[in-house]
Amino acid sequence: MQHDLMRTCVLAVTAGVLCSVFGMTFAGLRDAASQVPITDDVDDPAVWGQLYPLYYELYKKSVDMQRTKHGGSEAVPRTPTGTDPRTMVSRSKVEEDVGLRTMWQGYPFAVDFREERGHAYMLEDQTFTMRQQAAPQPGACLNCHASIYVAFKKAGEGNIMRGFEKINQMPFAEARKLVQHPVACIDCHDANLTLRVTRPAFIEGMRAYKASQGIQNYDVNSQATRQEMRAFVCGQCHVEYYFQGAEKRLVFPWSKGLKVEEIQAYYDEIRFRDWTHKDTGAATLKAQHPEFELWSQGIHARAGVTCADCHMPKISQNLTASDHWVRSPLHNVENACLGCHQQREPNLTAQEMKGRVEQIQDRHWNLRQHAMTALLALIADLKQAKDAGRSDAELVAARYLQRRAQFYLDFVEAENSTGFHAPQEAARILAESLNYARQGQLAVRDPSFRPTIDIFDFPPSPTAAPAPTPPR
Ligand code: HEC
Ligand code: HEC
Ligand code: HEC
Ligand code: HEC
Ligand code: HEC
Repeated sequence: MQHDLMRTCVLAVTAGVLCSVFGMTFAGLRDAASQVPITDDVDDPAVWGQLYPLYYELYKKSVDMQRTKHGGSEAVPRTPTGTDPRTMVSRSKVEEDVGLRTMWQGYPFAVDFREERGHAYMLEDQTFTMRQQAAPQPGACLNCHASIYVAFKKAGEGNIMRGFEKINQMPFAEARKLVQHPVACIDCHDANLTLRVTRPAFIEGMRAYKASQGIQNYDVNSQATRQEMRAFVCGQCHVEYYFQGAEKRLVFPWSKGLKVEEIQAYYDEIRFRDWTHKDTGAATLKAQHPEFELWSQGIHARAGVTCADCHMPKISQNLTASDHWVRSPLHNVENACLGCHQQREPNLTAQEMKGRVEQIQDRHWNLRQHAMTALLALIADLKQAKDAGRSDAELVAARYLQRRAQFYLDFVEAENSTGFHAPQEAARILAESLNYARQGQLAVRDPSFRPTIDIFDFPPSPTAAPAPTPPR
């Protein structure tokens, strides 16, 4: 009966009709909690779905693939093989842009890197990416690609932190056996549906970040506001990260701040490198999906607008239910943007709003191309100098400038909004990247050239210098 009401509700919503029974139904469903055993140990979203069918239906829709001009995702058919049963994947970015291959030369990303797609695919895409064959991956990868909260609890005998530490260092295949679902209800909610952060790396990363702001011993789950939690649950995964030490501890490098130069300074201080660039010998860093960090520098964050406001808006302007179909807001501009923006501009249309986003993204892409051209030119110059037998000592500055130009470009390249989350900040980062790449070229050509930034000396062989203890 309740289920039927809920279904009617969904249909009514689809038809754009006010569904006043919704609140009542929702309350009624919660009352039925005693019949469905949802505890802190249930990771299967289908079980939660018996109690919250509307949310489960919306959640499952993330299997849909639909492109936008610069984002969304697109289904590319593939023939399954013995090692990879997927019949559909998303577009390959390294095949579309050889520049990416060159900038990641010698690192598994040069082998396989695709457009991201919906949450439903996170576990299989990680399991079957060719990066798994290119290098052995640790259990730590699973932090952001599975419903892993219950597995942490089990492995740590009730202690999440211990479970985290155990699973991080397992080989991927072994850890993979401990999880079954992509991100699920229990990863963002407790059994009473209160939002919570379940990931140790975010808890620790935020504590380190707050300490840099003068706030000691910050505890995200007891101290964050509800509005902050609407971004923090996403920041558990949509962030820059690295694996620290032999324990492969997942760490978010935020103890100096969330801005690109602060993260760069963190990595420089501990002399961290993800890999050594094959063509040039530079000690390079790979940035990954810093949505949370870039968003934090934009006008929306400044105005208190969070990830959930745009990516999980109300399912219609009359309904308070949050849309659990997490996707590109450009497929959903009415609900995601206009509710807010029409308050100031009543005649603003979805088409116009989309146009504004695409204009920002087009400009961003243009600048990104210039930064890429400059980085590729530096890589080419360095390679030539190295092949011509120039000494390591002569190439220190240019290699460090490559490291820097690469990380800055990658920071916005790996960020998935094509500049939208913080347009001016993204433009600043690209301009800095371009500046570093061109200075690197000057440094190759003219030994007397003095770069405008401090140069860190990284030995071309990764084993030559022991890393100092990282800041925490
Ligand atoms: C003001 C609205 C807004 C806020 C706030 C916002 N986003 Fe976005 N996000 C967008 C838009 C618009 C795009 C571009 C979508 C496209 O190009 O199709 C986007 C793109 C993305 C993408 C890539 C989606 C795709 O389909 O390619 C991800 C992932 C993402 N955002 C995550 C986040 C996270 C995580 C946060 C919070 C830390 C956040 N967003 C905050 C509006 C927002
Ligand atoms: C801190 C969280 C986090 C960790 C740890 C993490 N990922 Fe991801 N991964 C994401 C997010 C968020 C996306 C979607 C955004 C994107 O693709 O940029 C993603 C996307 C992917 C994709 C799809 C797009 C692509 O790159 O082809 C693959 C494959 C993947 N990750 C593999 C891995 C592997 C292998 C590891 C371990 C080395 C790993 N991930 C560790 C958060 C994480
Ligand atoms: C447990 C980690 C995790 C959490 C938590 C998480 N995401 Fe994701 N998200 C991912 C991964 C991984 C992918 C890429 C999956 C793939 O490509 O197979 C992804 C993909 C996306 C996409 C791309 C969808 C598309 O169709 O292209 C968007 C948008 C997104 N996430 C937004 C969010 C928002 C907003 C939140 C918070 C409400 C959030 N995510 C929470 C890991 C996470
Ligand atoms: C990636 C994080 C994430 C996942 C996974 C997730 N939710 Fe939510 N959920 C949210 C956010 C964000 C809100 C808004 C909470 C707020 O504003 O206080 C929310 C709110 C809710 C609410 C409260 C009412 C409302 O509409 O705001 C219900 C019920 C709910 N979720 C059910 C579920 C169920 C059932 C699942 C699994 C099928 C699920 N959620 C999975 C992030 C998530
Ligand atoms: C919860 C309210 C809210 C939502 C939802 C929201 N915005 Fe905004 N947006 C703001 C505020 C506040 C500003 C700051 C400027 C202002 O006050 O008008 C802003 C500014 C902007 C700007 C100008 C950016 C700049 O750098 O000057 C654009 C473009 C924009 N929003 C697009 C969007 C899009 C696209 C969406 C949906 C994906 C969206 N907004 C969703 C509140 C919102």
